Amino acid sequence: MSLLDLAPVIPVVVIDDVETAVPMARALVSGGLPVIEVTLRTAPALEAIARIAAEVPEAQVGAGTIRTNDDIAAALSAGAKFLVSPGTTLSLVEGMDASGLPYLPGAATASEAMALAERGVKELKFFPAEPAGGVAYLKALQGPLPDVRFCPTGGIRLTTAPDYLALPNVGCVGGTWLTPADALASGDWGRIEKLASEAAAL
Ligand code: 3PG
Repeated sequence: MSLLDLAPVIPVVVIDDVETAVPMARALVSGGLPVIEVTLRTAPALEAIARIAAEVPEAQVGAGTIRTNDDIAAALSAGAKFLVSPGTTLSLVEGMDASGLPYLPGAATASEAMALAERGVKELKFFPAEPAGGVAYLKALQGPLPDVRFCPTGGIRLTTAPDYLALPNVGCVGGTWLTPADALASGDWGRIEKLASEAAAL
């Protein structure tokens, strides 16, 4: 099954304290969002992926903000189940392909999407969704690139997600709104579960 079809929303998570990783993942899973992208933007990110992979088997935890082949190797050893990149270079897409994991390479233009589709990669992250043209841009891509599907991410919130999800070329959306920094810092797992269940109902 495709990464885009597992859940309507992929929480994009920035982990500052590794101790929050497991309870956060449990709250997201309880709320109905089992696919979790941990961004490799903070020092504890890899350890967070490893703990979630080991302790929350119901979650499908992946690594986001993949920028280099070293990131791919680190994500694989941490136990990541999928890879997401904000943009795409040739060496990066070759590395993600060689990893054997499902992956969503980033694209923000018709040319980038076409270059990936030429390689047979037709499920992409559309990033940064809102600044790059949002719903209108994706709608415009549907005509010429009907076989390419997206997970738009970047600036999307609960209120704007439905407009994206209504598009035929959108499988799911991603965003950080499910795991606000203050809820993570204070351990407010109930709030994260509630945000997840609102999103899971989309
Ligand atoms: C990403 O890497 O996908 C973005 O940083 C998402 O962040 P946002 O939902 O806060 O825009």
